[in-house]
Amino acid sequence: DETTVAIIGAGPAGLTLANLLQRSGVDCVVLEARDRAYVENRQRAGIIDHHAGRIFEEYGLADRIVGDGPVETLMEIRTDGVPRFLDTPALAGGRPSRLVPQQMLVRRLIAAFLDGGGDLRFDAADVAVHDLTGPRPRVTYRGGEVHAAYLAGCDGFHGVSRRSIPAEALRTYSFDHGIGWFSVLADAPPPRYPLMGVSRHGFAAQFARGPYASRFYLQYQPGEDPRQWTDEHTWAQLRLRLGDPDLVAGPITGREVVDMRSFVAEPMDHGRLFLVGDAAHIITPMGAKGMNLALTDASVLARALTAAVHQGDETGLREYSAVCLRRTWDYQEFSRWYAEMVHEAGDESQPFRRRLALARLDRLFTSPAAATAFADLMAGTDPGQPD
Ligand code: APR
Repeated sequence: DETTVAIIGAGPAGLTLANLLQRSGVDCVVLEARDRAYVENRQRAGIIDHHAGRIFEEYGLADRIVGDGPVETLMEIRTDGVPRFLDTPALAGGRPSRLVPQQMLVRRLIAAFLDGGGDLRFDAADVAVHDLTGPRPRVTYRGGEVHAAYLAGCDGFHGVSRRSIPAEALRTYSFDHGIGWFSVLADAPPPRYPLMGVSRHGFAAQFARGPYASRFYLQYQPGEDPRQWTDEHTWAQLRLRLGDPDLVAGPITGREVVDMRSFVAEPMDHGRLFLVGDAAHIITPMGAKGMNLALTDASVLARALTAAVHQGDETGLREYSAVCLRRTWDYQEFSRWYAEMVHEAGDESQPFRRRLALARLDRLFTSPAAATAFADLMAGTDPGQPD
């Protein structure tokens, strides 16, 4: 088969790219290793920040893709049970983020692409990429082959695309934040506002996942195995850390240990292969930037590919990696800063660092300039070139 862009992976990155290309009149084929039900039921991220949401508006897809997802209003940080609120959308000049669980986003992106006549192939086993630096790269999979002008590696951290780039052509950065998180999905009423609990018992958080469910996060100590925790222990810890003895429990439907890791591969391209989303970088959930990076990478690449295909202008493709890496490092710094603050602010084993973290946290509620800088990152940014 022949196409213009072969996209590997149908997660948020690959599906967004596919839809933007379709809207721009650029031909593409999407190859996904798993089946449709698997992809549509994967529950992970849940926030589309204001900046990423604008991408769908630009392409006339906002109603269909972002839809009526609830708009973020306040966020709450409780320190040893004492609540404080930040109106981040207002602080960011009226730029709210929206709550759109990943599985809803993915379902809508699949439906929109297929309705537009898109070519999306599930169950594509043994995907391999070839001739990356030649004029006509190709992708093979069990039972098929696709020739393309460009390849987009949207196949996540464990995918085949990044691994196909020679090691000497990539510089990679890995960082373990030294923090363990246990994530629990439960049929329990969502909090009024996204809620973070800073406490000497460890960090905890609660976020809405639709109108009837919550996702909780609990820090665990090195050496602990939170998967062994009983439900009673989990709820008791949540009540303690969130400072709410009346927190309503519900059936736990998912348990997961979350790696607090960061990874960046530079550059994000090799010949005619472009890495998008988790294939190029992973980030901690703190600040909710992982999915937003996938969406913004896809948008930068869609624009660059469209200019290359329709105008023969490859400037955008040459700049793709540098543009996306600026935002990636900006968000990595934000996520690290945020995670360090809310964890250290509860950590009594490091009294000096704890006081520093508490001072940093207080500053968000006492300094309008600090609050605005924070809100700006929550809304999503476009880090320009330094002057
Ligand atoms: N061949 C084809 N498809 C593959 C292969 C392969 N060899 N390997 C992986 N895939 C598919 C996966 O099955 C998955 O559907 O690629 C897709 C990658 O999707 P994600 O891992 O979700 O990555 P991405 O689209 O970059 O989105 C990243 O979404 O889930 C969040 O935490 C994640 O926020 C981050 C963002």
